[in-house]
Amino acid sequence: KIDRLHAAEILDSRARPTLAVTLTTADGIRVRAGVPSGASTGTREAVELRDGDRTRYGGQGVRSAVAHVNGEIAGAVTGRTFASAADLDRALIELDGTGTKSRLGANAVVGVSLAAWRAEAAVAGLPLWQYIARAAGTRPTLPVPHFNVVNGGAHAANSLDFQEFMLAPLGAPDLPEAVRAGAEVYARLKSRLATEGYTTGLGDEGGFAPALDDPENVLRFLVDAITDAGYTPGRDGVAIALDPAASEFREPDGRYRVAGEALTSDRLIDRYEEITERFPVWSIEDGLAEDDWDGWVRLTARLGDRIQIMGDDIFVTNPVIISEAVGRKVANSALIKVNQIGTVTETLDAMRVCRDAGYTQMVSHRSGETEDSFIADLAVGSGCGQIKSGAPARGERIAKYNRLIEIADENPELPFGLPWLDARTA
Ligand code: PGA
Ligand code: ZN
Repeated sequence: KIDRLHAAEILDSRARPTLAVTLTTADGIRVRAGVPSGASTGTREAVELRDGDRTRYGGQGVRSAVAHVNGEIAGAVTGRTFASAADLDRALIELDGTGTKSRLGANAVVGVSLAAWRAEAAVAGLPLWQYIARAAGTRPTLPVPHFNVVNGGAHAANSLDFQEFMLAPLGAPDLPEAVRAGAEVYARLKSRLATEGYTTGLGDEGGFAPALDDPENVLRFLVDAITDAGYTPGRDGVAIALDPAASEFREPDGRYRVAGEALTSDRLIDRYEEITERFPVWSIEDGLAEDDWDGWVRLTARLGDRIQIMGDDIFVTNPVIISEAVGRKVANSALIKVNQIGTVTETLDAMRVCRDAGYTQMVSHRSGETEDSFIADLAVGSGCGQIKSGAPARGERIAKYNRLIEIADENPELPFGLPWLDARTA
């Protein structure tokens, strides 16, 4: 039973306003949730409400979303008893009434949903990850962290077109060792960049943002850093995952601009194939733009039996869009972001659609984050086996990795990693 629901306007990691939602239950349990926010967003994402009042935060304020939580949503849920957090999510979806949460604001709705799941877990006396696993009917697993150590695209001021270059310690024996590998390679990468005269300033997700243009040059740095740190580049040690976020560098004529060259979808797919032959890249997210579905079919046919082909902007954690993609053989994996769809319940629905279709999933942060670590519990509870939360640096990124370490430490019986890796991409 909800006794009090309250939102406030706080800051995210990019100094932009976002919401903190506090929920108090009748038995005196009090929880809090912070709302994330993206920069390279998909056009079909649930709609974040911004005030547009230029005299405050350049129009980015979220007072209207805050007012919706404290007014209409609090009015509808306070004093009511919900059998589960999923029931409360359904009430929120109904109250908003739009398919995209545009009336109350996806940022308002997701804050309440995250708080509700945390509160229900506390009422049930379970850690959040265990409550999620029980609700979803999944087998809890500690995920392989994917550390975004070089930032480009919409996340950095350099001229690098690909947005994310991630370290994936697939060969690590356990979660703490995976974190150690990420941190050690990150440190080696920093020295290498500095030695060769590149800046080691950080992008939005804590990765370095050097003035490198060609993705292949970045990949060379990564492989060297992995070796410097004493690990084996590849799936037995530390592999690499890419998120080019290709919607961001697609030209109006449909071609993709990479390091000054304009490439058709097929030429870009050739480039990816070459990259996977030369470098230990095991996963490519948003390799093509969100509206290039025909290109995605060809990309999946060409590389989908060797590597993970993951959809982010194209799927926006939407179970309906993912179902359509399954039917058209688009991708073999989905990135999962709670605020893209707006509630935890719909997020778990999207993950179920993936599981039923044999699509892998990776739980993800946003480039704008708070210290909230909900996604660490979501990744463990859903059993999906992989998470990305930026570099092993910056407090809002580390909060998630440290929560994973805490869960691993308290639950030595939990399995770690990607049990399906060999079957999918042998
Ligand atoms: P965003 O980027 O949070 O800025 O949308 C993350 C991603 O593209 O995966
Ligand atoms: Zn992405």
